Amino acid sequence: MQQLNNKHIILGVTGGIAAYKSAEVIRRLRDYGADVRVVMTDAAREFITPLTLQALSGNPVHHSLLDTEAEAAMGHIELARWADLVLVAPASANFMARLASGRADDLLTTLCLATEATIAIAPAMNQAMWRNSSTQTNLNTLQQKDIVIMGPGEGVQACGDVGPGRMLEADQIAELAAAQFQTALLDGINLVITAGPTREAIDPVRYISNHSSGKMGFALAQAAIEAGASVTLITGPVALPTPERAQRIDIESAEQMHDAALAQMGHCDIFIACAAVADYRPRQVAEQKIKKSTESLSIELTRNPDIVSAVASHPQRPFTVGFAAETQQVEHYARKKLQHKNLDLIIANDVSNTEIGFNSDLNAVTIICAENEKTLPQATKQQLARTLIAEVATRYKAKS
Ligand code: PMT
Repeated sequence: MQQLNNKHIILGVTGGIAAYKSAEVIRRLRDYGADVRVVMTDAAREFITPLTLQALSGNPVHHSLLDTEAEAAMGHIELARWADLVLVAPASANFMARLASGRADDLLTTLCLATEATIAIAPAMNQAMWRNSSTQTNLNTLQQKDIVIMGPGEGVQACGDVGPGRMLEADQIAELAAAQFQTALLDGINLVITAGPTREAIDPVRYISNHSSGKMGFALAQAAIEAGASVTLITGPVALPTPERAQRIDIESAEQMHDAALAQMGHCDIFIACAAVADYRPRQVAEQKIKKSTESLSIELTRNPDIVSAVASHPQRPFTVGFAAETQQVEHYARKKLQHKNLDLIIANDVSNTEIGFNSDLNAVTIICAENEKTLPQATKQQLARTLIAEVATRYKAKS
C-alpha cells in the first residue's frame, strides 16, 4: 500500500471503548510508511493514555487548543495544513454530532474546520445509538459535506448488544485510508517523467553534476500512479526507492536520458521533464584518470541535446510539461522557456531559496501556460505533486 508512503495523517481519537483499537490503527498506518500525528479529545484520554499513542506514533500527542507550548511547536492551523488526511477513528456519536454542526470547541473539531485535506471517520458506538434518527441525520449531513464514512461494521458489541456500530478493524481502516489517495484522473494514460541530476563524465572517476535529489520527480511519479497513470520514470543517479508500479529506467548522462526519453515516443501521452539536466558536457572524456600535473586545467564543454525540446518537436508529440529552475526573474525566464521549448506548461521554482527546490523536502512553484499562471505556496513535494498532477490532468484533457 504505497499510497500511504510519506503521507501525513492526523489520527483523531474520540471517547469510546474502541479507542484501544486506535493503537493498532497507528501501527498499520506506520507500517505502510505514513507519518501519523494523534489528536485526542478529553474523553478519549479516559480510555487510552496519550503516552501509548505517542510511543506508537513517534510524535507528541496533541489535545488542547489552548496549550500555548503545543501551539508554539505546531499550532492548530499548521497541523491542519500539514495533514494529507484527517482520519477520526473511533468517531463517537457525540463527535459526529459536533462535526455535523460545524462546532470548533476543541482541537479536533477546530482542525476539521481548518483543514483542506479529506476528512474520514470510522464511527464506533452502541447499535441503538447508531440507529438513532439523530445519529442518522448527522450521518447524512456529514456525507453531504463529502466526509468519508468508514463502516461501521456489525457484530457483538462491548456492551453485549449485537448489531451495527462496531469500529472497522485496523487493517480495513488502513486500506480505506490508502484508497483516499487513489484518484482516477489519469486512468489509461501513459506518463513519462524525468527526474534527478545527470552526470557528465570528465574522466573515469570525475564528473560534472548538480544538487538534484530526484525528490520532486519521484513525488510526481507517485502522484501520477495514484491518479491511475502508467508511469515510466527516467532517472539520473539518486538515492530514492522506486515508487511501486513505476517502470524505472536508470541513466547517467544527458545523452542517455535523451535516448531513453525519445524511445518512449509513440506510447507516451504526457511527458514531464523534472530532471536537472546538465546543459554542457566535456567535449572529450579522458580515458585514464587525469593527473595533477599543472597549476590550472581547462576542460572544454560542448552543448548537450535539449531533451524536453526534442520531445516537444517530435512527430508523436505528447502533452509536454517542463520545469524551470531559476535564481532570478523566475517567471520571466520560465515564460521564455515555455515559448522556446514549445511546451504546453512550465512549472517554475525559485532555486535561490535554499528552503525549497534542490534537495529539499519542500517546494513552492508557479504553473505557467500561454494564457495564465497559478502560484502554489510552499508545501511538501508530495503535496505539491498531487496538485500538479491534478492540474496537468485537467489541462491535458482540455487540450485533447
Ligand atoms: O530533484 P530535487 O532535489 O527534488 O529538485 C527539484 C528540481 C529543483 C530539480 C526541480 O523542481 C526542477 O526545477 N527541475 C528542472 C531543473 C532544470 O534543469 O531546469 P532548467 O530551467 O535548467 O531546464 C528547463 C527545462 O528543460 C527542464 O524541464 C529540464 O528538465 C529541461 N532540460 C534542460 C536541459 C536539457 N539539456 N534538457 C532538458 O530537457
